Amino acid sequence: MNIVHISAECYPYAKAGGLGDVVGALPKYLNQSRHQAMVILPYYYNERLRDAEKSLVYEGQAPLGVEPFAFRVYKVDDSKDFDLYVIDIPGRFDRPGIYIDPWSGHAYWDEKERFISYQVAALEWLKIEDFKPDIIHSHDHHTALIPFMMGQAFRFENFRETPSILTIHNGEYQGRYSRDDYDLLPAFNLENIGLLDWDGALNSLAAGIKTAWSVTTVSEGYMEELLEYCHGLEQLLRHEKEKTIGIVNGIDSDVWNPETDQYIGHNYSKKSSKTGKSKNKKILCNEFEVDPKSPVFSFIGRLVREKGADLLPSLIQKCSEEGVDASFIVLGTGDPSLHEVFDKLSDEHFGYFDTRLEYNEQLAHQIYAGSDFLLMPSRVEPCGLNQLYAMRYGTIPVVRKTGGLADTVKDLHEKSGYGIVFDEFSVGDAYRAVERGVELFAEKALFKKKVEKVMSLDYSWRRSTEKYISLYNSLIKS
Ligand code: GLC
Repeated sequence: MNIVHISAECYPYAKAGGLGDVVGALPKYLNQSRHQAMVILPYYYNERLRDAEKSLVYEGQAPLGVEPFAFRVYKVDDSKDFDLYVIDIPGRFDRPGIYIDPWSGHAYWDEKERFISYQVAALEWLKIEDFKPDIIHSHDHHTALIPFMMGQAFRFENFRETPSILTIHNGEYQGRYSRDDYDLLPAFNLENIGLLDWDGALNSLAAGIKTAWSVTTVSEGYMEELLEYCHGLEQLLRHEKEKTIGIVNGIDSDVWNPETDQYIGHNYSKKSSKTGKSKNKKILCNEFEVDPKSPVFSFIGRLVREKGADLLPSLIQKCSEEGVDASFIVLGTGDPSLHEVFDKLSDEHFGYFDTRLEYNEQLAHQIYAGSDFLLMPSRVEPCGLNQLYAMRYGTIPVVRKTGGLADTVKDLHEKSGYGIVFDEFSVGDAYRAVERGVELFAEKALFKKKVEKVMSLDYSWRRSTEKYISLYNSLIKS
């Protein structure tokens, strides 16, 4: 099968979050299963893409409404695991940020024009090159108009029989624009304009849900949650339920491998995890100025409501006041008001809590390797990859029972359980979960057993890739 992934992110060339990791790994595993998967990505002018070896493969024009725009397609020659093509659209993507301008911290003003022109250019190029993909797979709202255009735009009639898939990595962001913005799209039968519409607006995600042949999300649990609540789209999803499916993400176990990871101070395996992790913990606690004798609880991720980052300050404060023997670390960026809170907290609780308010891939690896526990108090978690990375590095996940976290972490109380799961999104429940972690840490032999247990779990892409392949096959047959 020829599978084309069209996405706004792809690790290691452009990553803002888990979407990048998934699109950087699934195609590789599809190729290993003897299919041909390629990825199309915008050519952001970031360091990684600018420095990459590239060859120009196409130069042309496409319309954004009635205005033609020029674009170029490059093949990224240093992408080894799958073919990667980047679309250069001067005036729209010749900037370093994916969604946010790194200088101002604000989202780019022309998100709509950027992502619509990107989607049109991607289909235009696939059509002209006559690639004849067997499957076109879009991800999130940035590419959710692709299934609509494949089914409706006169210009893309050749894709009418090609199955389209939309994967929702996050139902909160929907690409909602004004109803009149439909005129930025290539011409289609206006009788079907309702396919773009949801609640009086052009809603890219809704259009994708209506028109894709199949709609997937990144865990079974999150799919169930979306049918209950999806920021206004739940009714639509329920209506389209027949074609929905949840497939849990995997991790790229070559990139995330404590035995070979170049980013960490000391490599280790399950067998050498005790000494390996304690060496990494020393490095980590030095870097972060927290006490290495206590169990270290870390949080990595975007500092936003969805991830429950706003619960952490009160949790850490309470732990410190109650004299809980633990250390806390936070790595991430996000809500500026939380940045202030964390800065203040680290001054007040020097030695107990420390933070780096930045996105730092290398430091993230060192945190997985050197921490004892990874905290994920998410309000919402479609899949969550961090708990899977943590486990691969022998770090026990402490998670709230939601979406993919509930699907992938089994509580210690359960038979052959290995993680700590709490129910309510509250400081009280999270506090109790930390206490349970501290208790586990104190039982040295049991703790070691659980560390080894999480390291032996297989959350690699192999299993989930099989599920995607059978979905692709069923769509092709239909
Ligand atoms: C989004 C979700 C996260 C998921 C990732 C990859 O970032 O918030 O839970 O793991 O996408 O699918």
